[in-house]
Amino acid sequence: MTFPETRMRRLRSTKKMRELVAETHLGVSDLILPIFFNESISKPTYTASMPGVLTHPLSDYEKISSEIQCDGINSILLFGIPSKKDSLGCQAYAEKGVVQKAIKGLKQSSDLLIITDLCLCEYTDHGHCGILHNDSIDNDETISLYAKTAVSQADAGADIIAPSGMMDGQVAAIREALDDAGHKNVAILAYSAKFQSSLYGPFRDLVHSSPGKDDRSTYQMQCGNRREALREMELDISEGADIIMVKPAMPYLDVIYDARNSFDLPVAAYQVSGEYSMIKAAGANGWIDEKRAMMESLLSIKRAGADMIITYFAEEAAKLLR
Ligand code: PBG
Ligand code: ZN
Repeated sequence: MTFPETRMRRLRSTKKMRELVAETHLGVSDLILPIFFNESISKPTYTASMPGVLTHPLSDYEKISSEIQCDGINSILLFGIPSKKDSLGCQAYAEKGVVQKAIKGLKQSSDLLIITDLCLCEYTDHGHCGILHNDSIDNDETISLYAKTAVSQADAGADIIAPSGMMDGQVAAIREALDDAGHKNVAILAYSAKFQSSLYGPFRDLVHSSPGKDDRSTYQMQCGNRREALREMELDISEGADIIMVKPAMPYLDVIYDARNSFDLPVAAYQVSGEYSMIKAAGANGWIDEKRAMMESLLSIKRAGADMIITYFAEEAAKLLR
């Protein structure tokens, strides 16, 4: 018996054929756009290392929300840059803090789904994600401030709280505080497997949060540890996380794959500032086709198993997807 010749190219022969057999799809609803508000500015400003990403004054919320919704984006991740920083990060949990004001403004002018990044590094004068005592971060003091911050963000109207500080027990502390404050429907998107990465540099330029002489290696994960990432995710799920996240995305596609295969919760991936800026820089030099590299990176992150992607490309990608 003779077998027919295998022709893989048959299914690649036309665009319609290729679309029919496509295994991975990217949609606008998969995309989450990070947005930055800076309390001290009166005009939108750019950061050199993050081409195309604006930092907004608080007065911009109406304009931004209508632009974003025009592009079809439904979900945003909010960050704030306070005018005053101190050792305890007090503006992170102030009732009239920059993020709390931004949430209220955005909720008044739109029906965007609002996710708030919850950390102290944008608010501390030393730039660490927690409270420093004698050069070390106090885990339990930090998570009680995270809990307080979560409640103040939920009080202001946040739909999802996303703790990104990598302290032990942070998800449990936040869940308990939210429940006690009557915010049972406010969800937690846990930055579960967040690696100590070189790729956060442009973000830290933008929010002015570089932690001086030290790095974040006593709380963020070291990059070679794939099994440890599973333990982090397992713990966050047992503490009450509703969605788990892997961050950064492209260098950690194996971890995204593990997350997808090991758990049934939604999996998010964060395509971080350095991933974005590398593509932008190479594109600006004419070394790669920027739009194609953008779409390829996003589709690859989905193929690995992410259900949703936080990306600075969200608006640009949304324009191509519509
Ligand atoms: C706060 C936080 C960081 C990012 C998101 N939330 C920075 C950090 O850990 O230094 C990085 C985002 C990016 O690089 O795009 N902890
Ligand atoms: Zn932080």
